[in-house]
Amino acid sequence: MNRLIVVFLIVLMAACQIKKEESMTNNKKKYVNDAHSYANPNEAVMTHLDLDLDVDFETKIISGEAKITFDTSDSAEYLILDTKDLEVKSIWGENGDEAEFEFGEKDPILGQELKIKIPSNSKEITIIYQNSPDAEAIQWLDPVQTADKKAPFLFTQSQAILARTWIPLQDSPGIRFTYNARVQVPQNLLALMSAENPQIKNEEGIYTFKMEQPIPAYLMALTVGDVKFQSMGSRTGVYAETSMLERSAKEFEDTEKMIGIAEGLYGPYRWDRYDMIILPPSFPFGGMENPRLTFATPTIIAGDKSLVALIAHELAHSWSGNLVTNATWNDFWINEGFTVYFEHRIMEELYGHDYSEMLASLSQQDLKNEVENFIAEGKSDDTKLKLDLEGRNPDDGVTSIPYDKGYSFLRYIEELVGREKFDPFLKEYFNAHAFETMTTEGFLTYLKTNLFEKNDIDYPEQEIHEWVYEPGLPSTLPKIASDRFALVEKQLNEYLGGGEIASLDTDQWTTHEWLHFIKSLPEDLDPQKIEELDTTFGFTKSGNSEILHAWFLKAIQYNYTAAYPTMEEFLIHTGRRKLLTPLYKEMLKDEGTKDMALKIYEKARPNYHFVSRSTMDELLEVDEENFIQ
Ligand code: BES
Ligand code: ZN
Repeated sequence: MNRLIVVFLIVLMAACQIKKEESMTNNKKKYVNDAHSYANPNEAVMTHLDLDLDVDFETKIISGEAKITFDTSDSAEYLILDTKDLEVKSIWGENGDEAEFEFGEKDPILGQELKIKIPSNSKEITIIYQNSPDAEAIQWLDPVQTADKKAPFLFTQSQAILARTWIPLQDSPGIRFTYNARVQVPQNLLALMSAENPQIKNEEGIYTFKMEQPIPAYLMALTVGDVKFQSMGSRTGVYAETSMLERSAKEFEDTEKMIGIAEGLYGPYRWDRYDMIILPPSFPFGGMENPRLTFATPTIIAGDKSLVALIAHELAHSWSGNLVTNATWNDFWINEGFTVYFEHRIMEELYGHDYSEMLASLSQQDLKNEVENFIAEGKSDDTKLKLDLEGRNPDDGVTSIPYDKGYSFLRYIEELVGREKFDPFLKEYFNAHAFETMTTEGFLTYLKTNLFEKNDIDYPEQEIHEWVYEPGLPSTLPKIASDRFALVEKQLNEYLGGGEIASLDTDQWTTHEWLHFIKSLPEDLDPQKIEELDTTFGFTKSGNSEILHAWFLKAIQYNYTAAYPTMEEFLIHTGRRKLLTPLYKEMLKDEGTKDMALKIYEKARPNYHFVSRSTMDELLEVDEENFIQ
């Protein structure tokens, strides 16, 4: 009997060994080369992370332990991680043995590789470390920089390759892991992560987190602040500072509906809860799709839900991006192009086709402008959907191309085959590749087989090649005609042709119509008309950040100085890069306004997160030295 058990165990062990080798062989095929990570996933790949961190607002340091569980091939000797400005105190193997490690050379973009010798039979490594007070992912805010002005605040922004500035890990979108965390923060503050989250503060200021679905490193996120939670539906809620909480919950009350719509389109929501946190205005993006907890800028709270497409966008990433993830940053359109497409589909179902066509039209306008600018600057390669960012910062790829050209490409396919075929195809795409990564080539192969061949439709090889691999605007760019925008243009032309301002019929206009109106104003406009428009419609006083932004752009062109004090306020307090960059760029065009740009930036710079600060430093050709406060 015993012998039988022994034989059985031997067979079982052998089977496990085969299984393990198989899985590593599969892994070998799986990990495409990522030019933005030092990791060696084909030899040793992390599968789980345990964090135990202490957040100190005094020193601006997060310190503690990161325990990494990993899988190896038989020949693996080293586990290689990405780090940037991290101070490593010691590294331990599973059995308490200290592990040898060495740092590689510092690269200004990629940081440093951390090469750890794997202690024999160890499948876990514990790293005792702390980050630098200047960690690029983290912004530490003083109470005055928050809405309630009472307590400090911190948030991280890990995408694209900044997770390595606060956690030593394999920072490549192709590598997924689950995580648990324990975070100690000052007693009056609540800590939240891209994980299962607490809803109330506790006495000790110790919070624990669990993320059971495997995610890539760029979705690691932490925020600490004096925030409260308000439920909005059975699986949605919002966290915000007290003075923002009611307003936020009202603005985003359609979120639960959006999830329902999204599930109808692309299959079940696989992350359990969907909450959001409204961050202070220095947050460098509109939104960031951290799983289970979208990080959002307060600048989308307009009071009339007019900017909630951004929530549809971040929610859509729960499928495109978080569930099926771009394999490298060269495939970034796989995340963003799909997400813009998906965002418009959600908005169409929520507010109607003529509403989503306004979004599509604005997207196409952005695309045309971006392509024109890149080509004028001789950077036509940057207008390709599939990028080549080797040797560059992946942040350079964050342009309108992956978003709006990506969207247009998917819309082109949709129009070619019809929604009755495209929708089920997309649903199956997300289902078949859930919790996996996707390269551009992988998608094209899947598309050819599962959409075109399956439905007996000719695959337009040439056209698709042009969309994905060639610069500029493809010949098959979808025609987008928004009726509501056509009406705006008609009215604007009448007004510019000498019509009375009072005859403009704007009662039913939404924010998007206003945006189109402002953007369509001619480059030169009679100063009287500028003033008349502002007095009648109150653009300079608008509470809507997108309208303000569009108007300020015109104000700079017109040298309409009455708007400048408000614009200065706006630039000092808002850190959202997409709103800042065009304004500074416009000011740089003229000597007089260039001076103003530098003066404003000097005041604004300390409020910006690293992501926005580094973009503006480059644009304004200044650095830390010029601007020591
Ligand atoms: N994931 C992006 C933000 C991002 C991209 C951060 C690349 C870092 C590197 C997010 O989903 C996004 O696209 N935000 C947009 C939203 C808009 C397109 C609706 C933003 O912040 O403006
Ligand atoms: Zn996005």
